[in-house]
Parts: sequence; structure tokens; C-alpha cells
Amino acid sequence: MNNQPSETRNSARQFAKIYIDCGDPLGWFEALYLAANENPYVIPWADMKPNPNILAWIDKKAPSFFQGLQVLVVGCGLGDDAEKFAELGCHVVAFDISLTAIKWCQQRFPLSSVKYVAADLLKPPTEWNQSFDLVIEAYTLQVLPPDIRTSALEKIASFVRPQGRLLIVARGRDEENPPGTMPWPLTKTELSEDAVGLNAISPLEDYFDNEVPPVRRFRIEFINHNYLV
Ligand SMILES: C[S@@+](CC[C@H](N)C(=O)[O-])C[C@H]1O[C@@H](n2cnc3c(N)ncnc32)[C@H](O)[C@@H]1O
Repeated sequence: MNNQPSETRNSARQFAKIYIDCGDPLGWFEALYLAANENPYVIPWADMKPNPNILAWIDKKAPSFFQGLQVLVVGCGLGDDAEKFAELGCHVVAFDISLTAIKWCQQRFPLSSVKYVAADLLKPPTEWNQSFDLVIEAYTLQVLPPDIRTSALEKIASFVRPQGRLLIVARGRDEENPPGTMPWPLTKTELSEDAVGLNAISPLEDYFDNEVPPVRRFRIEFINHNYLV
């Protein structure tokens, strides 16, 4: 989540709690976007600009790295990260469980080359299996309760084609610390090579970002060295 006022975050937590308590941990996303009625200030993660933690990662690559890549953006929200990858010359598919969020993206970016799709990460289209050169996951895992996070991560890794890459950005915490409240920070074990099933390109980055107050982030890039099965 970002620099939005704390009442916005608290309201999102209320939405989450109501749905999670009813056994529907994914229902609150659509409810929140719908209740926002096109007002982004109600959405705690909606900065209406690309994620600075992704931009910093992009800056370390040569621009040619991105040319023509097939990119999948997981839990794309209002589409700013997806648009950034399209701007870099990638062919982008971006999906979100919320149909309202997807329609909002299409309305914000009517001339976009991005293919925006309403889909559930836990039940993705079969044609996405091992189909993308680059998969981008920022802040979705941390809003999923720990009991469904493992299967969500499994699905995310399954989208990466052999030799393709996966970038994950998430809130971070130490193993011995309590899980806290939504958004639940991830542990390094949850983002280990064993857990993800891919090879890390470089050690996990553990840092505090520039939000006020600063948030501890984990950022890690993986490569799929597995063979097609
Ligand atoms: C915390 S927001 C982050 C949005 C965006 N990645 C960003 O950084 O601004 C998480 C997003 O994931 C979406 N989401 C949650 N569960 C999902 C699922 N099972 N499948 C697809 N999208 C999901 C939510 O609707 C929401 O837009």
C-alpha cells in the first residue's frame, strides 16, 4: 500500500475482514473497486503512477532488454505498471480479479496496447502456462491470506516460460515477527528458490522504500531454468 491516508487503509482492512470472516478471501477486491465509484483515493494502493520499486528495477536493465518481451502483470490494479512495460516495447497482458478494475484500466488507457483481462490468479487460463518472458508480481501476494499464498505463488511461477523471468516486490518481515495485519508482509522463506520453484538471479533485496513512513520491501528476480514438461 502507499501514501494514501490511514482511513483509506483502514477502510480497505474492514472490507477485507468482512469477506475473509465469511470465508471469501478474494471477494473484497471487487467490492472495494465497486464502492470506489471511480474515485482512486478510496483504493489504498492506487498511486496512479508506476510502482517506484519496479521503476528502480527497470532502471538497472538496458532498454533493449525489454524490447518485444511477452509480459504478464499479475493483479494489475489500475494499470500503471502494465502501461509502463508497454511503453518499454513489451507485449503486455495484465489481469486482475476485479472486473471493475479492468474496466477502469480500459477507461483510463483507451488507446493502450495492453490486453486487460479479468481473471483469478488461482484459476488462470490454461494457455498462460509457461507462456511469458517476464512476469511481474507487485503487492498481490501480500493481500492474500497466508493459507492461499502458496498456491498463488505456484500459479505465478507457472506463467514463466523456460528461461523467462519473474520479478516479485512485496512487503517484508523477519521470520520471527508476527504476520501483522493486511497487507501481510512476506518472509524470506516464502520467497526462497525452494518456495518459488525458480532460480534467483541475484540475492533478495531487503530495503526500506521512500514512503512516509518507510516500508520494508523485498524485491527479487527469478529465472526459469526448468525444462518444459
Ligand atoms: C494490493 S493491490 C496491488 C495492485 C497493483 N499491483 C499495484 O501495485 O498497484 C492487489 C491487486 O491484486 C488483485 N487481486 C487480488 N487477488 C487476486 C487474484 N486471486 N487474482 C487476480 N488478481 C487479484 C486485487 O484486485 C488488486 O487489484
